Amino acid sequence: MNLVEAMQKRTSLRDFTDYVPSKAEIDAILEAIYHAPVVFMSKNTHIGVITDKAVLKQLDELGVSRYGKPLNISSVLYNAPVYIVISAPLVSEVPEAFKEAIDLDFCNRSLAWTIGTMVQNIQLRATDLGLASCPVNGTVAGLIHDKELSQKIGIPDGYTPLTSVVIGKSKTPYKVREGQKDNYLVSFV
Ligand SMILES: Cc1cc2nc3c(=O)[nH]c(=O)nc-3n(C[C@H](O)[C@H](O)[C@H](O)COP(=O)(O)O)c2cc1C
Repeated sequence: MNLVEAMQKRTSLRDFTDYVPSKAEIDAILEAIYHAPVVFMSKNTHIGVITDKAVLKQLDELGVSRYGKPLNISSVLYNAPVYIVISAPLVSEVPEAFKEAIDLDFCNRSLAWTIGTMVQNIQLRATDLGLASCPVNGTVAGLIHDKELSQKIGIPDGYTPLTSVVIGKSKTPYKVREGQKDNYLVSFV
């Protein structure tokens, strides 16, 4: 699949089948992440790949405990077989050389920007592989406060879970979609 086709077909799918992506497929998705652009303070970003069913259940329950009621949903991970959580140490001080150039908020916005590019690469590669994916925030919101579960999925001390994506296979076929032009304001100078 070429890049334009992958962009046109990429969508967030939530109706996962029992299919468990292979190690080769997961490795291909990791490889796609490694091609994402990184800002210097995000070079030690942590990628947690969770496939253990018992741990996935715990993570789902954590998300449901926060989002189940307001969103009226019984699962935030949609029974997906693979869950990727991306964490990084938030910047607490602007690096010395940049103190006069940028503020702390800008540093952390740059970090969020990097994480976004990683998620984009995950979804594009998943589409290319015929896998389904969906960015999910429900569990991350709770994980930030759950040290024990964070440790269980390998998030290093001092790291903040920032975003996450579920991956698997869906019965819903990918189809080429129109770009969502109405979501944007564009200006030319
Ligand atoms: C930052 C971010 C967080 C999201 N969190 C969730 C989520 O918690 N649960 C969910 O089902 N979808 C989530 N989504 C997916 C969006 O609902 C989806 O991208 C949007 O509806 C557009 O659909 P598309 O991805 O198919 O183009 C999230 C997307 C983004 C970019």
